[in-house]
Amino acid sequence: MRTQVGIVGAGPAGLTLAHLLHVVGIESVILEHRSRDYIEHRVRAGVLEHAIAELLVDAGAGDRLRREGIVHHGIELQFAGERHRISLSELADGRTIVIYGQTEVVKDLVALRLDTGLPLLFEVSDVSVDALESERPVVRYRHDGEAQVLECDVIAGCDGFHGICRPSIPTSVLREFSREYDFGWLGILAAVAPSNDELVYAHHERGFALLSLRSPELSRLYIQCRPDEDLDGWPDERVWEELQIRLGLDGWTLAEGRVLEKGVTGMRSYVAEPMRHGRLFLAGDAAHIVPPTGAKGLNLALHDVQVLADALGAWYRTGSQALLDAYSAECLRRVWRAEHFSWWMTSMLHRADADGDFGLRLQLSQLRYVTTSHAAATSLAENYVGLERV
Ligand code: FAD
Ligand code: DHB
Repeated sequence: MRTQVGIVGAGPAGLTLAHLLHVVGIESVILEHRSRDYIEHRVRAGVLEHAIAELLVDAGAGDRLRREGIVHHGIELQFAGERHRISLSELADGRTIVIYGQTEVVKDLVALRLDTGLPLLFEVSDVSVDALESERPVVRYRHDGEAQVLECDVIAGCDGFHGICRPSIPTSVLREFSREYDFGWLGILAAVAPSNDELVYAHHERGFALLSLRSPELSRLYIQCRPDEDLDGWPDERVWEELQIRLGLDGWTLAEGRVLEKGVTGMRSYVAEPMRHGRLFLAGDAAHIVPPTGAKGLNLALHDVQVLADALGAWYRTGSQALLDAYSAECLRRVWRAEHFSWWMTSMLHRADADGDFGLRLQLSQLRYVTTSHAAATSLAENYVGLERV
């Protein structure tokens, strides 16, 4: 088989790239090693930056997002027993965030792709990429028991952090930057109306907690835990008990409901540079990971593919490689801004035993500063909704 762009991975990055390319008449084949059902029900992110929601709408992939996405104008920071609102839209030139689950983004994009009849293959195995430095890179894989070779003009490595594309780049070429955190998040999805109109990021001496949502009937909640936390030790009652303690305030209670999903997410900061090797372009989690505090992972992934689709469009239209040559540096500027913001939010809000009481006092001072200084609040707000220019 031959195509223009071979896309490895049908996460948000791969599916959005395929759609953006289709809109400008560029062919692609998407290869995904999981099933459709699996990728459509993998509960992950839920916050879209203003410009990223607009990207999906402008590309014709945002009909349901526009109908069902919930626009939020602010978030709340809770510490020392009080909540403080950060008015995102007032501080960031009217920009807002949209609450819309990653599962829904994926479902919308899969449906659009299948409607076009263009190739999106699920449950492929033994995927490998080759001839990256030639003008005819190839993807090898197995599908329905048959070994296949896909010849491409370029390959987009959208196969997430554990994919095969990044490890195919010679180690002599790739520089890696990373930081591990000695905590994770235990997250639940619960069938109960959100107890607050806006997201609450809570600093607590027992550890961080986050109140979020997916819809008027679905709450999404997280508590800081150990990175290798055993879910067996966390029956639903214990999760609710801990959430009540960490999010609790005088005169306010957290409504509880049936737990529909429960999982532990480890945390890491990671960047691979450059995001290109020959005719292979990495996008999304394949190239970088942020800790989830600040909700940047999904947004960065979609920004990468927006830049890549523009660059490929220009190349096919004019023959100029200038934008493709600029791809890695262009993406990495925003990636590093998000790396800093996510690390900063994480450090300000999580209990870190190694930093002791000194660290705790610094966190509380920073939280007071961010919620009382217009300049500091503006900095948080413009990063949270997504900077226009980096
Ligand atoms: P992915 O979504 O990882 O998609 C990659 C795809 O490639 C997957 O479908 C995978 O099955 C496929 N694939 C992998 N290897 C191969 C292969 N060899 N061949 C073919 N296909 C392959 N971000 C937030 O902002 N907020 C959150 O709350 C949040 N929670 C998260 C929880 C978890 C458990 C994880 C892992 C991430 C979370 N993130 C969160 C990050 C966010 O979900 C990611 O940044 C986002 O999914 C990135 O999209 P992507 O398309 O780059 O990668
Ligand atoms: C959600 C996840 C985040 O990482 C975050 O900062 C805010 C909300 C969520 O899953 O809803």
